[in-house]
Amino acid sequence: MDFKGRDIIDINDFSKEELLYILKSAKKFDPAFAKKDRSNYTIAQGKIAATLFFEQSTRTEQSFKSAAQKIGMGIIGFNDPHSTSIHKGESFSDTIRIMDAYADVLIIRHPKVGSAKEAADLAQIPVINAGDGPNQHPTQTILDLYTMMKEAGKLDGIIVALMGDLKYGRTVHALSLALSHFKVKQIFISHPTLRMPDEFLQVLDKRGVEYEEFDVLPEDLKADFVYQTRIQKERFKDLNEYKKIKDKFILDASFKKYLDRGVKLMHPLPRVNEIDSVLDAHPNAIYFEQARNGLYIREALLTLILGRI
Ligand code: CP
Repeated sequence: MDFKGRDIIDINDFSKEELLYILKSAKKFDPAFAKKDRSNYTIAQGKIAATLFFEQSTRTEQSFKSAAQKIGMGIIGFNDPHSTSIHKGESFSDTIRIMDAYADVLIIRHPKVGSAKEAADLAQIPVINAGDGPNQHPTQTILDLYTMMKEAGKLDGIIVALMGDLKYGRTVHALSLALSHFKVKQIFISHPTLRMPDEFLQVLDKRGVEYEEFDVLPEDLKADFVYQTRIQKERFKDLNEYKKIKDKFILDASFKKYLDRGVKLMHPLPRVNEIDSVLDAHPNAIYFEQARNGLYIREALLTLILGRI
């Protein structure tokens, strides 16, 4: 399977076979599986990654920088566009053309939907979408799949509950679509006003995916994973609506009984208050491990698109 030179813009651009190939490749960088450390500082020596972060990030920006350096790449870029000539009025397209000349891979986060695709259309080198507004964050979806595969040992046959803001959350939309390639039962738990949009349910129907919807967390929930998400305050037109909902889907100490039963708790992070830190020490609270897995996925993706694997 050849990924050399490929852009990573939208999770829908990847077939089931391609997703499985990326997951398999990431195992080579993961100390949990790798016989020897493949993060050897030489695989991609001489190549440069440019991280263009027009919007804030902790995990995505830092894990891409770490991944690039672990495989030997140099790093350039910015995370404050006002420290660049954009502040003087330089356009997005000129900025992309310039960075295209200085790097071998562009990694871009931007609040505007479609910005990563726009960059990919302008650039000669591969572009990775590190989040384009409420639209897509494909490397997050791939690391979520990887985490489930690593924890459960398989994807076919698992049950995944997606919870919280299913209306506005880009992570749950993309994850639901990616999981629909596999025999995964999906459970949606949200306030009635934050349900999974019909357009996504229609895709699941078309693909014959089994799913259920709940307004509250069922006491007898049968799931391998609960994927909790933040209520996206910034997307509400009426803040009173947000205030009515915001505290209804907080997982606190009472969620321990689910963890004790073997349910694994995931979250793309950052969290605000939707998972109480009292749960953090439980071995089935795996959101920090999930974030760590992002490193192995990003090492694999960079290596694949540079044709070094
Ligand atoms: N999960 C995620 O994308 O986190 P950051 O916004 O910190 O990159």
